[in-house]
Amino acid sequence: MHNPDLDLAADPQAGTATPPAPLYLRRSGTALLIDFSTGEPALLHFGADLGPDLPDLSLLRDPVPHSALDTPVTLGLVPQASSGWRGRPGLRGHRSGRAFSPRLRLASAAVNDVGSAVIVQTDPDAGITVRTEIRLNDGGLLQLRHRLANDGPDEYTVEELAAVLPVGRAATEILDLTGRWCRESHPQRLPLHQGTWVRSGRHGRTGHDASLLLAAGTGGFGYRHGQVWAVHLGWSGNHESFVDTAGDGRTVIGASELLGSAEITLASTEHYDTPWLFAAYSDAGLDGITEAFYAWFRGRPHHPGVASGKPRPVVLNVWEAVYFDHRLPALLELADAAASLGVERYVLDDGWFRGRRNDTAGLGDWYVDEQLWPDGLSPLIDAVTGHGMEFGLWVEPEMVNEDSDLVRAHPDWIAGPAAQPGPGASGGVRLPERWRHQQVLDLVNPEAWQYIYDRLDALLRENRISYLKWDQNRDLTEMGHDGRPSVHAQTMAVYRLLDALRAAHPGVEIESCSSGGARVDLGILERTDRVWGSDCNDALERQTIQRWTGMVVPPELVGSHIGPTTSHTTARTHDLSFRAITAMFGHFGLEWDVRGLDAAEHTELAHAIALYKEYRSLLHSGRMVRADEPDPALRLHGVLAHDGSEALYALVSTATSFAEVPGRVCLPGLQPDRRYRVEAVYPAPDDSHAFIQIAPPPWLSAGVEASGQFLAASGLPMPVLNPEHGILLAVRRVHDHDPASGGHPVRNS
Ligand code: GLA
Repeated sequence: MHNPDLDLAADPQAGTATPPAPLYLRRSGTALLIDFSTGEPALLHFGADLGPDLPDLSLLRDPVPHSALDTPVTLGLVPQASSGWRGRPGLRGHRSGRAFSPRLRLASAAVNDVGSAVIVQTDPDAGITVRTEIRLNDGGLLQLRHRLANDGPDEYTVEELAAVLPVGRAATEILDLTGRWCRESHPQRLPLHQGTWVRSGRHGRTGHDASLLLAAGTGGFGYRHGQVWAVHLGWSGNHESFVDTAGDGRTVIGASELLGSAEITLASTEHYDTPWLFAAYSDAGLDGITEAFYAWFRGRPHHPGVASGKPRPVVLNVWEAVYFDHRLPALLELADAAASLGVERYVLDDGWFRGRRNDTAGLGDWYVDEQLWPDGLSPLIDAVTGHGMEFGLWVEPEMVNEDSDLVRAHPDWIAGPAAQPGPGASGGVRLPERWRHQQVLDLVNPEAWQYIYDRLDALLRENRISYLKWDQNRDLTEMGHDGRPSVHAQTMAVYRLLDALRAAHPGVEIESCSSGGARVDLGILERTDRVWGSDCNDALERQTIQRWTGMVVPPELVGSHIGPTTSHTTARTHDLSFRAITAMFGHFGLEWDVRGLDAAEHTELAHAIALYKEYRSLLHSGRMVRADEPDPALRLHGVLAHDGSEALYALVSTATSFAEVPGRVCLPGLQPDRRYRVEAVYPAPDDSHAFIQIAPPPWLSAGVEASGQFLAASGLPMPVLNPEHGILLAVRRVHDHDPASGGHPVRNS
């Protein structure tokens, strides 16, 4: 609800108006404090809640040092040199080289009582207005974005408009993520020193190496201890995120869209919107950051399952089973095998459309291949849906092969640096280097956009398709439209395409895949229903990829499949139990030729699928905990019900340990004063591949009962795991007053 008392307008340049009251937003242990008394919105605090009363702002003001500006330097909502800020500027822009130094001053500040605010600043001399929207969501996730409007008569060029927040001076360490194809989301740490740490993404897509999360925190901050400030930019194009420690000792953390030369040139009255910056603070390590993100995701009405109550179905994707070999009998056999195992969604991957026999041709020709599928997709779709499974289809709408009917008809629809394409597929025009034999379709061209929309719309209308795996398999290098950089416009065109198709086909789920996890961000996730975290189905690699993707993205949105026994991308061989326990903590599925399973494998796989079905409502709604496990060979994570009634933990050994026995491993996060029953549910205690021991810990075969406090503080002696194996532990609260040995477990599903 709008609170008119706080809807204040000030014109400090006229020197008449009273500045508005400070903005003090508080939620879930996090607070943001912005002061307006200097005439500029000043970021005084982002971090721990400072209590219910507005702090005395004089306690937060810095002194003026020697040999410096004569007034205290303001860290503005848009940091600017005109206020003395000598760190990374919040806004770089100009009018053909003039109006280069903005002096934004407050025009209005409106706050409503559900944790959001709109702050407007103007610079009449530069002819610009910046309107900033801020939301502090339930759960503590902060969102912030700017809109810059050109109020002047001529063009204004935006080079950068960043969203920043202050970091407490307790922070001494930076953590971010990096990666490559088949190795996404791996953490790296470095000390926070004076200067700027910048992560730039120039892939035209989010990028395999994108830092899903950039965090600064107290020394050695871990999963469950230490103060952490963290940001994520919800954008699928070029971007930068940074931690900037200025000479005056202040540190900011922030991010911006990385714009090309004159990419954003605003005519009079036009505006530019930055992507949302998402930010969180935690005084209990990274788990607290994760909690804020998960709460936000799950609070969205369009979050999968929220409106429908539908659980995340077990998927079979045929890619690693058949690749481009689309023979109907084999695909039907796969459907039969999948159904017999309990699969609920069958996804036909790349290779079904005109001319697509391998990855050199066909992209752009989104018609079912008449030679391969003389009766269309119906024979397969009917078989799949006849088994009660949903049918999903792979598409890669943003790309073309030069060897396609589309490019032969419209060579000028390939995006590239040249202004005027010539005749022929590439005649006379310099195209970007090919990547996987493909080029980018210029979706900024309205005709190309409409063609793709119409083809996808027709496919969805003509076939019973419940799911699209929407792929994007190359960087947008030298991306241009009409001779000007166009990553921004292309990204917006892709968003529009997804939005329009979703509006026309609200029942269809969409997965965002980009050669695995090269497009995992909150911009794409606002219009898709899950991401494909990596093309690597090797469970060992997935342990890291999923753990760190899961810092931000909840498991129900991260596709996670049991791959073949020997991984196609690493040639490592893993037991089914390790592969299944790994896939369990995501949106579970199979990417394996399950036609040839022997009876024992079939039984074990069906059991693993049944386990996932038993626990998915917990896994996809609960709190993620990750232990600060002292043994580098071991990892423990778990998902706990918010009401404390149950949990599912996985203890995983990623290597051989220095220790003969793991010792007692703590199970954190349960209600300390309640009793729980712990049971090892997978693999069987006598599994001689998973465990190497003469005698298991006594509790392993029959389970054990203990208090949440004991489990968190002492933990349980764990079996000796072989490397690259894991064990799944189910924990259920027992009735306190049951006289029998701890009573019976209470399931809350
Ligand atoms: C990309 C995806 C894979 C698969 C292939 C098909 O590499 O990441 O999962 O769909 O394309 O060509």
